[in-house]
Amino acid sequence: MSSTAGRATEQADEKRRGAFSSRRVFILAAIGSAVGLGNIWRFPYVAYENGGGAFVVPYLVALLTAGIPFLLLDYAIGHRHRGSAPLSFARLRRGTEGLGWWQVGICFVIAVYYAAVIAWAVRYTFFSLDESWGDDPEGFFFGEFLQAGDVEVTADVVPGVLVPLVLVWVAVLVIMALGVQRGIGATSLIFIPVLVLAFAALVVQALLLPGAAGGLDALFTPDWSALASAPVWAAAFGQIFFSLSIGFGIMITYASYVGRREDMIGSGLVVGFSNSGFELLAGIGVFAALGFMAQASGVAVGEVASDGIGLAFIAFPTIISEAPAGALIGVLFFGSLVLAGITSLVSVIEVVISAVRDKLDTSRLTATLAVGVPAALLSLVLFSTTSGIYVLDVVDHFVNQYGILVVALVSMLVVSWALRALTGLGGHLNVHGRPRVGTGWRVLTSIVAPVGLAVVLVLALQDDLEAPYGDYPGWLLLVCGWLLVVALPVVGFLLARLPWRAGTHLDGPPPGSDPGPRCTRPPRRTPLPTTTR
Ligand code: ALA
Repeated sequence: MSSTAGRATEQADEKRRGAFSSRRVFILAAIGSAVGLGNIWRFPYVAYENGGGAFVVPYLVALLTAGIPFLLLDYAIGHRHRGSAPLSFARLRRGTEGLGWWQVGICFVIAVYYAAVIAWAVRYTFFSLDESWGDDPEGFFFGEFLQAGDVEVTADVVPGVLVPLVLVWVAVLVIMALGVQRGIGATSLIFIPVLVLAFAALVVQALLLPGAAGGLDALFTPDWSALASAPVWAAAFGQIFFSLSIGFGIMITYASYVGRREDMIGSGLVVGFSNSGFELLAGIGVFAALGFMAQASGVAVGEVASDGIGLAFIAFPTIISEAPAGALIGVLFFGSLVLAGITSLVSVIEVVISAVRDKLDTSRLTATLAVGVPAALLSLVLFSTTSGIYVLDVVDHFVNQYGILVVALVSMLVVSWALRALTGLGGHLNVHGRPRVGTGWRVLTSIVAPVGLAVVLVLALQDDLEAPYGDYPGWLLLVCGWLLVVALPVVGFLLARLPWRAGTHLDGPPPGSDPGPRCTRPPRRTPLPTTTR
């Protein structure tokens, strides 16, 4: 195909699917996706629990040997094949399309509960102004706010959660309907600088609190013996995968919206190191604040440290109540959670919208409504009721452990070993990207990263088989945990059987793609230039 014809195809494709206006916008959107709840409420405690200062060693090893190599693999798949996760996999090799739909299913589930946590943070931003939780943040969170009773599924709606949840979904659907550049790109351009400024102000404020140094001591004092422990290494690999948003379709989708001549390797390095920089900042801010709380209560930092819901909705309200300028700390902390959460949520839901658009050729608005309305309704039904917190906790645990990590491992093995596509994909990255990737990248992606992931999975499985997660009843773990994670690939491979819109180019990169070594072993049957199944 001539370069003029290639350019025409590219422009038509950009018009139909949408595109980021520049590499800078893409990088901000990718950072927005990576920096989320995982950075703020998960990383600090994971680091503290797994060797403190010594955790930097497994963390950096996981980042450099698995995180960034796999991020580049995701970029290469999406950027070369110019499609949503299912379309990119179908173009890589038709039989692997189901992997893309499996990733789409995981994103749908994550979006449904991630929105609920953002809604809680919205409420808590306002609660911080008058410390609505009084002198019992824990009792307030589970009682007055969530009205959580026994562990059972109920239909009793909690209006205090319902209203902000509706608002979150309306905001997200407006962003999604505006499209890739005017919606996702523009939101990232505004939210990411504001997030960085707000979080930096929070860290400064936290460092000025009495006792902050004790918190930092607790976080950074190295326990070198932790380096001999397999679970510590597993924690580092697990953290990197969720935090970098890799392996579950997001980076494939975003990369498909980037101009064909952009440097995806340099972009990956910027995104990977920015995400880790934000995690370090979060660690400092959170542990400085916990140091203050420990000193004020006269206990060790270890006794007040926690992660996730406990850190955000119980420890931080306690800190806000006791600290000077507590309301400011509260608004900065919960406001940062909302901003970081929304830019991650839009990336998660875009995986689904983009897949529906590619498969059915619907307009952006139709796809947004077709995906967003059911997701929002499900989110409201499941998480604005008095049983929402239990379902959320179980779904989050299982989808993270056995959804994201398993699909990431399987995709890596399929692309590296079954399709032998790494040479082609690396060649594509090298056409415009620097520094070049070569044998080292292929070894890391095909051997080191899968081995790291496999160890994480085996250890997680051991834990879950030894004792029921969170001491929840078996029926809840079965339905919202095990059955859900088994259903996702099954549904994924069934969806792959549906026909593509007429004229969809499958089997190989679309016309006009940069030259590079062939991506996969030749398909066994004769490739069709345009296929409708
Ligand atoms: N990477 C996003 C997070 O850390 C999903 O929350």
